[in-house]
Amino acid sequence: MKRISAIVRPEKLEPLKEALFAASISGMTITQVMGCGNQHGWSEYFRGTEVLLNMIPKVKFELIVTDETVDGIVELICKTAATGEVGDGKIFISPVEEVVRIRTREHGEAAI
Ligand SMILES: Nc1ncnc2c1ncn2[C@@H]1O[C@H](COP(=O)(O)OP(=O)(O)OP(=O)(O)O)[C@@H](O)[C@H]1O
Ligand SMILES: [Mg+2]
Repeated sequence: MKRISAIVRPEKLEPLKEALFAASISGMTITQVMGCGNQHGWSEYFRGTEVLLNMIPKVKFELIVTDETVDGIVELICKTAATGEVGDGKIFISPVEEVVRIRTREHGEAAI
């Protein structure tokens, strides 16, 4: 099992949510986050001084999925979340050891 953590533009929240539902994702967690990438945000002049506005609002999608579905989901996220401009976001993938559905106490892939 893998955790797919995708940080995308806020305006991609709805389209990405719909695309993931359509792809029969079982669950997801969405969080509003602030962050910066390579460009370290952007700079603006405030009273004649350059001020860095480092942290830009983004939305984080977190999904726990089976190993076999990772590539397809990553492709779907890239396709849906891309604009081609800097700041489109990033996807982090990491291993997940265990999942438990509290109601049934199912473990592993059955609990996803
Ligand atoms: N190395 C990183 N570690 C943690 N979070 C990151 C990292 N890189 C990007 N992020 C998160 O992803 C968001 C979007 O990053 P962004 O798309 O600007 O990455 P980038 O590397 O600058 O790519 P681009 O050049 O396309 O803008 C950031 O606001 C931040 O929340
Ligand atoms: Mg960037």
